[in-house]
Formats: sequence, C-alpha cells, structure tokens
Amino acid sequence: MTTERLSNPNLNPAMLRQAFGSFATGVTVVTACDADGRLVGLTANSFSAVSLNPALVLWCISLTTPSFAVFRDCRHYAINVLSADQEDISNRFANPSPDKFAGIDWTPGASGVPMLDGCIANFECRNAHQYPGGDHLILVGQVESYRVEMDAPLLFFGSRYAGLQP
Ligand SMILES: Cc1cc2nc3c(=O)[nH]c(=O)nc-3n(C[C@H](O)[C@H](O)[C@H](O)COP(=O)(O)O)c2cc1C
Repeated sequence: MTTERLSNPNLNPAMLRQAFGSFATGVTVVTACDADGRLVGLTANSFSAVSLNPALVLWCISLTTPSFAVFRDCRHYAINVLSADQEDISNRFANPSPDKFAGIDWTPGASGVPMLDGCIANFECRNAHQYPGGDHLILVGQVESYRVEMDAPLLFFGSRYAGLQP
C-alpha cells in the first residue's frame, strides 16, 4: 500500500501520479487545426462533462506539450471519445509524430476540425474559456455539435488500458 501525508509540501510526483491513476477514466483524442490548416491531436484522459445548459466540457493540456500553443489559440477543437478497439489510436496520439493523422479516417465538423471515425462520441467545441491549472491549462469548451454511438469504451486505470467487464 502507498501512503503519503497530505500535509507534505513536497509530495513525490511519481507517487502522486500513481495516486491520480487510481481514478479510472475513458480516453479521448482532442483534435484541432493550426492557423495554416495543419492537423494536430493528442490523447487526453482529463476530459469531463461540466454543464448541460449551457453545454460545457473541460479538459487539461500540459503547458510543455508541443501542440500546446495550437490548442490555446484555436477557435474550435473536437473531443473524440475512443472505443474499446481504438487503443492503437490512443497510442498514436500520445506520442510525438510529424503526421499523427496518416491512415486515420476522419470527417470535418462544421468548423473544419477533425472528427475521428469509429469513436463512441465526438464533441465539436468552441474554445470558450481557459483557466490556469498549475503545470496544465484548463480548457472549457462549449459544445456546438456532437454525435454519439454508444459502444464499449476504451478505459485507462493505473497507467494501463482496460475495458468494461461483460
Ligand atoms: C491515456 C493518456 C492520457 C493522457 N492525457 C493527457 C491529458 O489529459 N493532457 C495532456 O496534456 N496530455 C495527456 N497525455 C499525454 C499526451 O497525449 C502526449 O504528451 C502527447 O504526445 C501530446 O501530443 P503533442 O506531442 O502532439 O503535443 C495523455 C497520454 C495518455 C497515454
């Protein structure tokens, strides 16, 4: 068992990461276009629904990730919720690569952002609000359109992929 005192001002980052990983999540790929129309995307499990009316969601991006400035500055992005059989897509978008979209099927949303095919849901969002979040930036998106096709989700728990037990 791993125990750390909450009052410790110098919490061990590796142990804290492990503790945060005790919260099981789905897995998303957030996609956008930069000012030149180049496609960007990254795997993110920090996604959460926020509000129904207005329709708001949030996710967090590391300040040091290469695509940070694109997501900070873009007008729209899409949040693509991965299905159980899209682990390869999660791995693809979680690692730096010159063309993460090679061989990936996607459809443009009304704003032009890439909505990945085969996902259980896609949310097209206006980049509405941003808040400081330590070594991350918290982005709140206003959902302008979405599609959902309820199927088995890809899950992430304890630094590993998982699936729902049948
Ligand atoms: C399951 C999983 C969840 C992740 N969640 C986030 C996240 O919420 N925010 C983030 O900034 N990076 C997250 N990452 C790391 C990014 O996907 C990774 O750093 C990626 O290379 C960033 O893309 P870029 O190099 O094109 O900027 C996650 C990685 C994995 C495997």
